[in-house]
Amino acid sequence: MKKNPLLGHDVISMRDFGRDEIRAILDRCKDFEKNKKPLLQGKVLANLFFEPSTRTRLSFDAAMKRLGGQTIGFADALSTSISKGESLWDTIRVAEGYCDVMVIRHPAEGSARLAAEATKLPVINGGDGSNQHPTQTLLDLYTLQKRTGRIEGLKIAFVGDLKYGRTVHSLIRSLSLFGAELWLVSPPSLKLPADFMDDLAESRTKHTEVDDLAAVPADVDVLYVTRIQKERFADPIEYERVRAHYQVTPATVERFGDRLTLMHPLPRVSELHAALDAHPGAAWFDQARNGVVVRETLLALVLGAA
Ligand code: NCD
Repeated sequence: MKKNPLLGHDVISMRDFGRDEIRAILDRCKDFEKNKKPLLQGKVLANLFFEPSTRTRLSFDAAMKRLGGQTIGFADALSTSISKGESLWDTIRVAEGYCDVMVIRHPAEGSARLAAEATKLPVINGGDGSNQHPTQTLLDLYTLQKRTGRIEGLKIAFVGDLKYGRTVHSLIRSLSLFGAELWLVSPPSLKLPADFMDDLAESRTKHTEVDDLAAVPADVDVLYVTRIQKERFADPIEYERVRAHYQVTPATVERFGDRLTLMHPLPRVSELHAALDAHPGAAWFDQARNGVVVRETLLALVLGAA
């Protein structure tokens, strides 16, 4: 990448990223893995987390510190003036006086875009409701590239909560740029929403909707399993109805063989059996670990240090 297309930019949605940009970022990640310098000395990242997080917040924190920068922020909106009625807009306007870049996670869809409008500083979306989670997608693609040697033409089955799962929404969008063939496995009430289905039709991405994992062919390259997003359900009875719909176990995946890559953004609850940690394709802890180098790269790019 000769020029840096991310300099000063926001990272809000994978809809904003084309093939070449994604490729360029993944190449940069590879360089970063080999060569780490204190590129962000004197810079401050604000981690503004209005929703629970383990991986996203801690890995942004680690990424910034490993590059010599510092972090401020909060992990719980209740401890901020939001609980006194302060608006998101005002919170962002105030935070911009304290930092050089912000990561925001918020339960409202569109909140990251709103935050980006409130400030000239780069804003990175750490998850906005059930909409998008672009940095998870970049680390998923980076993990796929490392494990399978490619991100082109993959056959990949998404299993679980395709309605509310933002990691799925972001990743599907990007895979459609790379000629993927998709199986969308969910209970009927948790199907991929219409606007994402429209994107698949528009990009002529081959896809099949099923509600049973048994309908997925044994030669898929990847199973991407997701948690049912309990916190997004308006009706707890509806959640109870689908809660245990999928439980992926060693027996369930046996027919896919050892060349299968098994992914999950974590946290897992009951949909992914812990015995699968021993499966040669189990990638979840790698995904989490790769989050650091991917976020280092993004921070350095948006701050113009790379
Ligand atoms: C995901 C999220 O927050 O969307 N977690 C993550 O960032 N790795 C997935 C989830 O919560 O199920």
